[in-house]
Amino acid sequence: MAKGKDLEGKRENFASKFGIIAAAAGSAVGLGNIWRFPYVAGENGGGAYLLVYIAFVILIGVPAMLSELIIGRRSKSNAVGSFRKLKPKTPWYLVGVMGVLTGFLIFAFYSTVAGWTLHYTYLAIINAFHGMNGAQLAETFDKFHKSALLPVFWQIIFIIMTAAIVIAGIEKGIERYTKILMPLLFLILLILVIRAITLPDAGKGLKFLFMPDFSKVTGKTILEAMGQAFFSLSLGMGVLITYGSYIQKHENLTDVAGEVAFFDTLVAILAGVAIFPAVFAFNLKPEAGPGLAFLTLPGIFEQMPGGYFFAIIFFLLLVVAALTSSISLLEVTVAFLTEEFHITRKSATIWSSLVVAILGIAATLSFGILNNFHIFHKTIFDFLDNVTANILLPIGGFFIVIFVGWVMNKSETRAELTNENKMKGRIYGIFLFLVRYVVPLAIAIVFLYSIGLIKL
Ligand code: PHE
Repeated sequence: MAKGKDLEGKRENFASKFGIIAAAAGSAVGLGNIWRFPYVAGENGGGAYLLVYIAFVILIGVPAMLSELIIGRRSKSNAVGSFRKLKPKTPWYLVGVMGVLTGFLIFAFYSTVAGWTLHYTYLAIINAFHGMNGAQLAETFDKFHKSALLPVFWQIIFIIMTAAIVIAGIEKGIERYTKILMPLLFLILLILVIRAITLPDAGKGLKFLFMPDFSKVTGKTILEAMGQAFFSLSLGMGVLITYGSYIQKHENLTDVAGEVAFFDTLVAILAGVAIFPAVFAFNLKPEAGPGLAFLTLPGIFEQMPGGYFFAIIFFLLLVVAALTSSISLLEVTVAFLTEEFHITRKSATIWSSLVVAILGIAATLSFGILNNFHIFHKTIFDFLDNVTANILLPIGGFFIVIFVGWVMNKSETRAELTNENKMKGRIYGIFLFLVRYVVPLAIAIVFLYSIGLIKL
């Protein structure tokens, strides 16, 4: 650990509960909600997927989030250092190392999509969507994301933006602004929802999202829903360990986890409600894949008064939502590098951004010139997207809950969850049962089921 960086005394704290929620929700709410959730739901049949997803958020997401917060606040340390501190001289710190690597892989393909949102902000400003129908919007997206120069250009801009904020420090900048910008994003999303559900044939889209058709539930659906829950809540790679380490002793961790999970899920569902009616109204396919949001949203804006301005503000806010998430991704790596390898924050940020950029450019180009290059039958982008959300994050989450449930002292975990026994009630008993048995078993069963090893 770096000298002079005493993790006990000098660490900063979140000043208020609202600050904690804004930071944690800022990490959670991002492209995962507005871009990834609707497209994965579309590919997995809609309604039934939504139900399975919500079940995973409550049953696995909240306990796993609480586990990370407990590890962080107890150790007051980064994702790797926390395991070292709580269980010295054991291999548990490798869970943190895996988290750092996972964050890296996520950031790579995340920056591809974030680059798309920058380009779409630009297109909104020059009023490029004006008068376009569904087919033309689809063609615009198709041409753009399969080309080379433009998507890579925006991606690099986005990575530079993220790096600049991480170098400057998060506290005074991003936190202050997200407190205003996240509620604004929410408001615009609500307005979009109203327009979407009054589109002709909106019922079809709502039915697709809310009517569960269980014949469509397969091992893949369940695995995808679990992966999406981890991805959307920023779980399984140490973001919430890091943020938990900045939370003061008197805050109620259960409240934090509950509120972040609720808000994150609400935004995802609202995004679905905004997007699916448009999918049917514009004659698109729900299983259109990663482009779904980009095909539909500009079309909705076209059909509403003031759409020109709403489109600009919306895509700008989407950029902000992506930024508050990518910052948390990069921060995990940077905190690890500075503390474990004694390098400055600035060079840690620059070097890791460079490596992310190389991998990220490969992901971007995998829609175009690298389209025939496959890893396990998937393009680079799809491979990164799938392997992180559906495999690496759940495995990370699995070990994190095992650590809290079976390895940490009960007196320590209880003290964190109940604020030194100030909070009464059965919450600790329920939590312990969930992290010892329910969550690890659920993750294991989903894995075995999805690879066909067990049948239900
Ligand atoms: N939760 C973020 C989103 O939904 C993505 C993310 C995943 C951020 C993992 C940090 C860690 O956009």
